[in-house]
Amino acid sequence: MKNINPKTTNAWKKLEAHYESIKNTKIIELFKKDLNRFKNFSKVFNNTILVDFSKNIITKKTIELLIQLAKECYLKEAILSMFKGEKINLTEKKSVLHVSLRKRELKNSLFNNKKISKKVQKSLEKIKLFCKDIICGNRKGYTGKRITDVVNIGIGGSEMGPKMVIDALKNYKNHLNIHFVSNIDGKNVLEVVKKINPESTIFLISSKTFSTKETIVNAETIKSWFLNHAKKKENMKMHFFAISNNFESVKSFGIEKKNFFKIWNWVGGRYSVWSSIGLSVALSIGFENFESFLLGANHIDEHFYSTDYCNNIPVLLALIGIWYNNFFSFETEAILFYDYNMEYFIQFIQQVCMESNGKFIDRNGKIVDYQTGNIIWGGIGTNCQHSFFQLMHQGTRRIPCDFIISIKEKNSIKLHHNMLLANFLAQTKVLAFGEEYKKEEYVYKKVRGNNPSNSILLKEINPYNLGSLIAIYEHKIFVQGVILNICSFDQWGVELGKKIAEKMLINFKKKTSGDEYDSSTNGLIKFCRDFI
Ligand code: F6P
Repeated sequence: MKNINPKTTNAWKKLEAHYESIKNTKIIELFKKDLNRFKNFSKVFNNTILVDFSKNIITKKTIELLIQLAKECYLKEAILSMFKGEKINLTEKKSVLHVSLRKRELKNSLFNNKKISKKVQKSLEKIKLFCKDIICGNRKGYTGKRITDVVNIGIGGSEMGPKMVIDALKNYKNHLNIHFVSNIDGKNVLEVVKKINPESTIFLISSKTFSTKETIVNAETIKSWFLNHAKKKENMKMHFFAISNNFESVKSFGIEKKNFFKIWNWVGGRYSVWSSIGLSVALSIGFENFESFLLGANHIDEHFYSTDYCNNIPVLLALIGIWYNNFFSFETEAILFYDYNMEYFIQFIQQVCMESNGKFIDRNGKIVDYQTGNIIWGGIGTNCQHSFFQLMHQGTRRIPCDFIISIKEKNSIKLHHNMLLANFLAQTKVLAFGEEYKKEEYVYKKVRGNNPSNSILLKEINPYNLGSLIAIYEHKIFVQGVILNICSFDQWGVELGKKIAEKMLINFKKKTSGDEYDSSTNGLIKFCRDFI
């Protein structure tokens, strides 16, 4: 992987000049000039996902120059490096191989490390058997009761992916109730234990490092609660399972090898839903659906790896993102999902993007002089229309958006779904084209338009399509990281926060004075200590 400062490329300079010539262009004019704009600026993946990027402030030339930028930043080589398992997580000296977790039916040999493929296959076999036994009731709790509830204890990537996928695929879920304990705020664990019976619940402690404080403290609390009921430690073996890369700590916690599911250190936390961290997903929707989820992502991997940039969905979305972030200086990007079950999708992508690309040091160790990861936010349509859409329509800022919807809806009411689709289309139209201001009309009604958006239409939300959609975003964010010359696969900022919190815990535990910090932190510690 080469480390090119994107600003030193010819393409960047040309894009700056191009920006000057296009910055005042209206989307409406672009549509008037090109009657086939929809056809020319939209792509369909596998007859299941349509991406329409015609409502953007871009021309053919913009795309050409952005592609030139990708080439000058050696994107192809970077993609190859990832698929080949080179240590592209530079600061942690690790490969980045979540793509190998979903390698199923490959047309061309994207990745040929037989050793890794074998390990992945073995891990999937273990997941498959486990799911079968729990779902059909072969595995029982310590009093012989059938398992009805699953609690995933984990945080960050060890929670967000599974939680999002399970919620999104509610239509596919079986009888198992899945709960999540992530927050160190004790209310989270207390709320969950109120809902479960220790005799019929299994606990999945999901932590790659098995050292994340929130997870370990929550797991210990649950273990005490469980033992309070189950009394004997040996009863734990029917109920406690660990997903980790750190078997030593798992063992010290009291979990044996049979109950241990491996995650390798080449799987980043935010990219781990495809690994055994996705065990709660496989339990909730069944192993076959989980496989289909992996396959959907795998087909995007193939598309990403082998399609020309001008037809490559993740690459195009990434380049358009860079166009707004680095040339228009738009600071945020909204994801607006018109689907009630997709609330957690926005949070999930927020982590993938902002933890990956929130970096100010480039791959050469230099401070960057351009923007990197942008701010991802959003919400669920149509509710957002009744809150922040007003600012998008008539505010002073422009906010590039991804509007996402599924066309078919299994579990809804036809009238409602048609209204959802109508609202989706209406919003993207009004945002792009506004409402022409007529003199006699009330001036305050003017809707400016010219707010860019991508429309992403899924035929339906099923495991396969959801897998594809997530992989599109993962690769989009990867491409942006490559071009912006940053290290997308570490998170040192987060690690520092963890370290400092641990240190401060001592101020509470030992009731030390806490005067070793700045005056604000010292003051806050003292104020808290007076009340606890
Ligand atoms: O938030 C930082 C992070 O390292 C994430 O990347 C990761 O998903 C999360 O913490 C949890 O880590 P672990 O799985 O090791 O408990």
